[in-house]
Amino acid sequence: MNNIILCGFMGSGKTTLGESLAEHFGMELIDTDKEIEKRENRSIADIFSSEGEAYFRGLETELIKELKNRENLIISLGGGLAANRVNHPYLKEAGRVILLECSVEETLRRISGDATRPLTAGGREDIVERYNKRKPIYEEVADIVVDSSGDINRTFNAVISIL
Ligand code: S3P
Repeated sequence: MNNIILCGFMGSGKTTLGESLAEHFGMELIDTDKEIEKRENRSIADIFSSEGEAYFRGLETELIKELKNRENLIISLGGGLAANRVNHPYLKEAGRVILLECSVEETLRRISGDATRPLTAGGREDIVERYNKRKPIYEEVADIVVDSSGDINRTFNAVISIL
């Protein structure tokens, strides 16, 4: 099977679903956030605070350019990767893009006050604004859209039945 790419806003369930899909299909999981943290040997929060967001975005683009040349991967993207149109051609080349769409209320419940995510520091209004701005951009690149507002098993079953 070719690569399966999970995209969506922070808290949409990409990481958890990625783990379940990788186990189910016996495929390797690459979580772009974890991969970047491993290569940089520091946390996302550290990268943002010492190098700034643009540096992190550059790392994301380099990584997806590299991953498009590999096969049989479940790729779970950091929330900003598919929100950056520069990455869309690489994502389309890399595999089938599944967008996990979680309601804004549930998203806020899941991510508000999470210190490991630098972009939640601006609070609820800022998160909602970012969510609304990104939604259509995610939809542009998605091959499949799945509602992930419910529990993870429901999302897992929905994705499996589509695949
Ligand atoms: C970001 C989402 C995070 C991480 C970074 C930036 C974003 O990943 O890449 O904090 O811009 O939405 P998750 O979506 O896994 O939280």
